[in-house]
Amino acid sequence: MQTSRHINNTPGKFTLRYVRSEREPPSLAEDARTGLLTRPRSLPPKYFYDGFGSELFDRICATPEYYVTRTEDALLAARAEAIIGASQPDHILELGSGASRKTHHLLTACESRSMRCTYWPYDVCESILIQAGRRLMGAYRWLNVNALVGDYHAGLMHLPSPPGRRLFAFLGSTIGNFDRPQAIALLRELHAKMRPGDSFLLGADRVKEEFVLHAAYNDTAGLTAAFNLNLLRVINRELDADFDLQGFEHRALYNQDAQQVEMYLVANRPQAAHLRALNEMLSFEEGERILTEISRKFTRGGLRTLLRDAGFEVTAQYEPQNCYFSLVLARPI
Ligand code: AVJ
Repeated sequence: MQTSRHINNTPGKFTLRYVRSEREPPSLAEDARTGLLTRPRSLPPKYFYDGFGSELFDRICATPEYYVTRTEDALLAARAEAIIGASQPDHILELGSGASRKTHHLLTACESRSMRCTYWPYDVCESILIQAGRRLMGAYRWLNVNALVGDYHAGLMHLPSPPGRRLFAFLGSTIGNFDRPQAIALLRELHAKMRPGDSFLLGADRVKEEFVLHAAYNDTAGLTAAFNLNLLRVINRELDADFDLQGFEHRALYNQDAQQVEMYLVANRPQAAHLRALNEMLSFEEGERILTEISRKFTRGGLRTLLRDAGFEVTAQYEPQNCYFSLVLARPI
């Protein structure tokens, strides 16, 4: 029987706790004030992910053009044993774990080595943590899940520090949404939580041919466009604003010099938007744009430098044959 070897094991436990903030991250109103009232205009990409935006992102991941998620998933599947073998974790703590869709590869690798670890998913969304925890504990009967509710933008200082060896994971190339200073700041905060013997697994998208990147952020089904425009719907709802979604167009381009994809919402005619919650009126000229996301692309050396500048030494870097994505294993120095 498949499950017989677990019968004598203690069944897994699920806990959930809130992680205290170290600082108050800016509210949407504050971010909109700083981002929209002065030029060049921008909004932080974290606001894409309301219910509808998260659903759109899932559908983007299923488009033929968006290689990012499926490349990382296949790479993790292929390399999970090596990653677990090298890091030997008693605990796996994942920043921004979401639905924990890729994590199961790491847990399968633990299982096949008869290593038992505790999984600590850390996410802003409590309901998705409960759902994901339930699903994983059904699949891995031995697994303990200690879910952590919180926003990593609010600091990592109050994350629990269980004794034992820990593997911290930050997947999905979310690091690409941070500019270099922001990325270094986040990685340093993570570094401060780590002890000798701990490991850090970072998933990061790579520099590649422009047409591949362009297609990935301009899918023919129009899902990325809808995802981008949904940000205006979020602003309308949360800030009692009246952006006309018809008045803006999705634009995504690869900025070769900055090695990043940039997503914009571009006004297709002169117009105004009233942000009632801020008591502000915005006017847009035709062609005027709002930067809604940067998605940085890295070279192998760039990742090594980034991590080194945050206090890490790279111990292994895994990539597929086409070098579209990197899983980087690092340790604190
Ligand atoms: C979730 C940050 C990895 O930058 O590729 C997908 C988000 N934006 N399509 C990325 C995204 C447009 C995505 N990350």
